[in-house]
Amino acid sequence: ASYDMGGHDTYMHKEIHEQADAVDRVLRGRIDDRFSTVHLGGLNLDAREARQIRRVKILGCGTSYHAGMIGAQMIEELARIPADAEPASEFRYRNAVVDPDTLYIAVSQSGETYDVLAAVQELKRKGARVLGVVNVVGSAIAREADGGVYVHAGPEVCVVSTKCFTNTTVAFALLALHLGRTRDLSVRDGKRIIEGLRKLPEQINEILKQEEEIKELAEAYAEARSMLFIGRVRGYPVAREASLKLKEVSYIHAEAYPASELKHGPLALIEPALPTVAIVPDDDLLEKNRAALEEIKARSGKILAVAHQHQEKADQTVIVPKNEDELDPILMGIPLQLLAYHTAKALGRDIDKPRNLAKSVTVE
Ligand code: AGP
Repeated sequence: ASYDMGGHDTYMHKEIHEQADAVDRVLRGRIDDRFSTVHLGGLNLDAREARQIRRVKILGCGTSYHAGMIGAQMIEELARIPADAEPASEFRYRNAVVDPDTLYIAVSQSGETYDVLAAVQELKRKGARVLGVVNVVGSAIAREADGGVYVHAGPEVCVVSTKCFTNTTVAFALLALHLGRTRDLSVRDGKRIIEGLRKLPEQINEILKQEEEIKELAEAYAEARSMLFIGRVRGYPVAREASLKLKEVSYIHAEAYPASELKHGPLALIEPALPTVAIVPDDDLLEKNRAALEEIKARSGKILAVAHQHQEKADQTVIVPKNEDELDPILMGIPLQLLAYHTAKALGRDIDKPRNLAKSVTVE
């Protein structure tokens, strides 16, 4: 595929900068202010059916799996349905119990990832209800699913997913809000989430304005042989995705860990040569996260914080605008897309086509 590059040197850079527009698109026409909910035309799930869901299981691979982790947290928080995400590739092979009261959701940018498609087919064979959260309209997974939410990120060409990740998390926020409002989410909370969603495009542009500073940070960190990414609860999937981005595009080894697990092992790795990127949202875990930064600082570890306010223990802080707590993960990964991009650029990597990778993995 070849699309207009609009002055960008790579599709990755172009797609990172398209995110405000992309988010605008996934929201467009779906918000219902009158009832503080959203309309998702393709869901094929009425309110009565929605109320009968006992669990939600989200399946995807790579970046889509990480978006699914964020989606599971949103569904659990807003709709109070137990939810979790699992790599589709693992799910397929563990002879999982398929439960009729569970709603299964397959997540995929391309809609063609074989492991996800095979999981969907297996689920359908066993009578499960499967929704798709898919970007490419009319793709195999979209066709196979009983219904779903299109992500509307637009064409994504770079092998490394950026705008589709962000839009997928927004699509999950819409789904979580919708499910929440058919269950126990109040009108007031519905309104609060809708207001938060509307702020996203502008907040994304605010983040992207910091590109020059992030570029300088990337150039400094490009010498690292390995990096640690930490976060907890809402911050953890963000850390996972940021770590994958860096690995894929810069080939620097990176590992993501829940900040709460540091003391159970990874703390042994901390030294000046292993920088840590910490996701530090201003939510009820702020003090806990600060304590983790202190632990790292005490061992002379370098820290780059992505936070809503300046972090004293960090060597640098990239400030992200605050949204509603539940929606914060949508924004917190965006500066780290830029970090991965500029690190890869400093190292002269093949940004749009990293070695050994394909845009969609349509074989086993
Ligand atoms: C994303 O940066 C990766 N290249 C990869 O993990 C990707 O997300 C995964 O292969 C799933 O693809 P899909 O979303 O098209 O199903």
